[in-house]
Amino acid sequence: MKRYLGLDQWNIIENDFKDENNKVSESIFSLGNGYMGQRANFEEGYSGSSLQGTYMAGIYYPDKTRVGWWKNGYPEYFAKVLNSTNWIGIDIYIGDEKLDISKCDVSEFSRILNMKEGFLYRTFIARLKDGNEIKIEAKRFLSIVDKEIGAIEYSITNLNFNGDITISPYLDGDIKNEDSNYDEKFWDEISKLSEDKNSYLTMKTKKSNFYLCSGMKYDIFKDDTKVKFNAQVNEKEKFIGNTIRLNLNKNEKVTIFKYVANVTSRDVNIDDIQSVTKNILNRAYDKGFYKLLEEHAKAWDKKWKESDIIITGDLAAQQAIRFNIFQLNQTYTGEDDRLNIGPKGFTGEKYGGSTYWDTEAYCIPFYLSTANQKISKNLLIYRYKQLEKAKENAKKLGYKKGALYPMVTMNGEECHNEWEITFEEIHRNGAIAYAIYNYVNYTGDKDYLTEYGLDVLVEISRFWEERVNYSDAKGKYVILGVTGPNEYENNVNNNWYTNRIAAWTMEYTLEVLLKLKDEAPQKYNDCIKKLKLKECEVNKWKDIIKNMYYPMDEKFNIFLQQDGYMDKEQILVKDLPKENLPLGKHWSWDRILRSCFIKQADVLQGLYFLGHLYDDNTIRRNYEFYEPRTVHESSLSPCIHSILASRLGMNYKAYEMYLQTSRLDIDNYNDDTEDGCHITSMAGTWMSIVEGFGGLKVKNDVLTLNPSIPEKWETFSFNIMYRGFLLKIRVEKNHVKISNDSDKEIQVVVKDNLYTILGKKAIEI
Ligand code: BGC
Repeated sequence: MKRYLGLDQWNIIENDFKDENNKVSESIFSLGNGYMGQRANFEEGYSGSSLQGTYMAGIYYPDKTRVGWWKNGYPEYFAKVLNSTNWIGIDIYIGDEKLDISKCDVSEFSRILNMKEGFLYRTFIARLKDGNEIKIEAKRFLSIVDKEIGAIEYSITNLNFNGDITISPYLDGDIKNEDSNYDEKFWDEISKLSEDKNSYLTMKTKKSNFYLCSGMKYDIFKDDTKVKFNAQVNEKEKFIGNTIRLNLNKNEKVTIFKYVANVTSRDVNIDDIQSVTKNILNRAYDKGFYKLLEEHAKAWDKKWKESDIIITGDLAAQQAIRFNIFQLNQTYTGEDDRLNIGPKGFTGEKYGGSTYWDTEAYCIPFYLSTANQKISKNLLIYRYKQLEKAKENAKKLGYKKGALYPMVTMNGEECHNEWEITFEEIHRNGAIAYAIYNYVNYTGDKDYLTEYGLDVLVEISRFWEERVNYSDAKGKYVILGVTGPNEYENNVNNNWYTNRIAAWTMEYTLEVLLKLKDEAPQKYNDCIKKLKLKECEVNKWKDIIKNMYYPMDEKFNIFLQQDGYMDKEQILVKDLPKENLPLGKHWSWDRILRSCFIKQADVLQGLYFLGHLYDDNTIRRNYEFYEPRTVHESSLSPCIHSILASRLGMNYKAYEMYLQTSRLDIDNYNDDTEDGCHITSMAGTWMSIVEGFGGLKVKNDVLTLNPSIPEKWETFSFNIMYRGFLLKIRVEKNHVKISNDSDKEIQVVVKDNLYTILGKKAIEI
C-alpha cells in the first residue's frame, strides 16, 4: 500500500510530481465515456516512465497467441483492445527546447481528477534549461453527451522572458500496444488530410479491419483575444499535425482549445467515416469548450443524482466510493449491447479489455440498482447473442452438446490460452446462469426468461450434464480436473464451488421450466420445442442434483474447497512473514500451488451467491475457516468477504475489507495499479456498501434491508432503483430513513419487519 494522493470528497489530487508514481497516476486519473477512454497522459508528451494509452470500445485486434507448448483446444488468437490514435498530443517548444517534465525543473505541480464534473486538470511551473519559466494549465474531458468528442484547454503563461513559443497539436496513429505478443503494430494508415484548421487521420486495424477516423480542430487565444495564425502542416506516416509559431512576452498567456472527434466503423460506413467525423467535429467546435464542458458536467450531475453514495465521518471512504462509482460510469454506459466491461476498462492493457465472469459476478448488481433496468438487461443479452459461439466452443473441446462460455472473450470466442484457466475455470458458466437469476429476481422481468434466459440456462445445464461423471467409488456425480475461482491451485477434483454452482444451475433451470409450465403452458410448450428439450435430459439433471458429491470437512464442519485440501500444510496468512506478500510476486508458482493459501473467495463466493440457501451459522463456520487462509490477491476478493462479514455482524472485519476494496487502486494495495485500475472489482466495492452495510436483498419479490454502519462513519446514504421506484436510504447509528421518490406506495422489509412507504413519503426507523 502506498498513499501519495490527497484526500478530498470529490477530487483525486496529486501534488508533487514523482516519475516513480507516474504510471500509477496515469491509471488512476484516466478518463472515459463508455465509447472511448484514455490514461492520464500529458498533452506535451513525457519521456519518463509512462504508458501512452487511448482506447476505443469494441475495437480489437486478434493478436496471434504466444505459448510455450501448444495444446489442442487453445484459441489461435488473443483479442486485444487496441491502443489507438493519440489525439491529446500538443508539443510545446520554448525557443528550441521541447517541454518535457522529465527534463526540466518542475514546481507547483498538481494533477486533479474532478469526479463531480468529469474532467482532468493539471498545472505546474517548468523552469527550462536556459532559465525560462512557464506556467502550464491543462484541462480536458471526454464528453458523455457527445460521445465522439474530446476537448482540451491548454494554456502557457510566460513567467520571465520575451521570446518565441511553438505549439504543435497533432494526431498520431503510429501507436503500439504495450502487450503486443510479437512486437507488431496493429494499425495501417488509410488517409490523412489537413484543410484550413481541420486535420483528419484515418487508420485501419490489420486483420479485424476496424476503421478509426480522428479529426482535430483548434483555436488559439493570446490572453482573451483570438489569434490569427499561419499553421505549417506536418505529415509523416500515420501522423498529421500543425505547427504554429508565436511571440510571447513576459506575463502573456497563450491558450489552445483543441477539439477532437473519433468515429469508428463499428457505427459508421467506412465510405462516410471522414464526412461524419467532420460534421461531429464542426458541431463541437461551434459549441465551444465551455459549452461542451457545461453540458458534460450537467450530465455528470444527473449520473451522480442516480448513483452517488454519501458517507459522512470518513473522508477516505467517501473519496474512495466516489472514485469507484466514477470509474464504473466512465467505463460502461449500457447504450451499446455489443459492448461489455473489461477488468481494466480504458485504464490499461492488461487483460486485453475483454469480457470475464467479472461482469456477471460483480458488475450486474451495480447497474441493476443505479441505472435503468435495460442496461443490465443489455449485459445479459450480450451473452445471449454469444450463445452459438459458446456452443461452438463446447464442441471444439469435444462435448456433444451444451454451451461453455469463454473465460475471456471479445466476440464470443475464447481468447485465453492457459490450460488451467481456458479449459478448467468452467465455473464461469455458473456465474452467467446466476446473473440471469439475479436479474429476474431483482427486476421481476420474467419475460426475459422466455425470450432469452431459458435458452442460455438450458445450454449451460446441458454442458454440466456432460461435464460431470458418475463415480462408482463414491456412488455420486463428481467434477474432475477444474480450477475454482481460487487460481492459486489448478486441476483439482470436486471444487465445492464448481460442483455447487453446476447443480444449482440445473435446479434453477428446472424451477423456471416448472413455473412456466404451470403459469403459461403454451409458452412452455413453445420453449421445449425450440430447445428440443427431452424428458431424459430433465431426468438426468434431477439425478445429478440429487446425487452430486460435495466435499466436506467433518472436523470443522465446513464445505471443503476441493478433495484433498486438508492434506495441505495448514498455515494462516497472519503467520506468514510480511515480506512474502503478495505471494503472486514473491513465491514460485510451484510453492503457491502446494500451499493452502487462497487467492480469492472460492467456497465463500458460492455462499455469497447462494446466501439465500444457507443459514448464518454455516456461513460463519466457513468464513472463519477460509478468510484467515485467503491472501486476497485478486481485486475481486475483499468485497465478497466484506459483504459476508456484514451479514455475520462482524462489523470491524467488514469495514477493514471495505477499505481494502475501495482504496485498492487509489492506495495501490496490490502494487499493480500501473497496469490499469481494477474496474470490475469497483462494482464489488459498491456491493460492499449497498449489499453489505445496507444489507440489500430481494426476497420473495420484496426489497429487504438490514442496515449496519461502520463505527467510524456518522451516516451513509445511497439510492436504489427498484422496479420503477427510486428509493433513498440514509443510515445513521440506530436510525434509518427511507424516502420513496415515486408516486406509488412500496413495501419494504427492514430488519425483518414489513413497512409500507406511501408515494413521495419517507419512513424513519
Ligand atoms: C481473477 C479472476 C478474474 C480476472 C480478471 C484474475 O486475477 O483471479 O477471477 O476474472 O482476474 O479480473
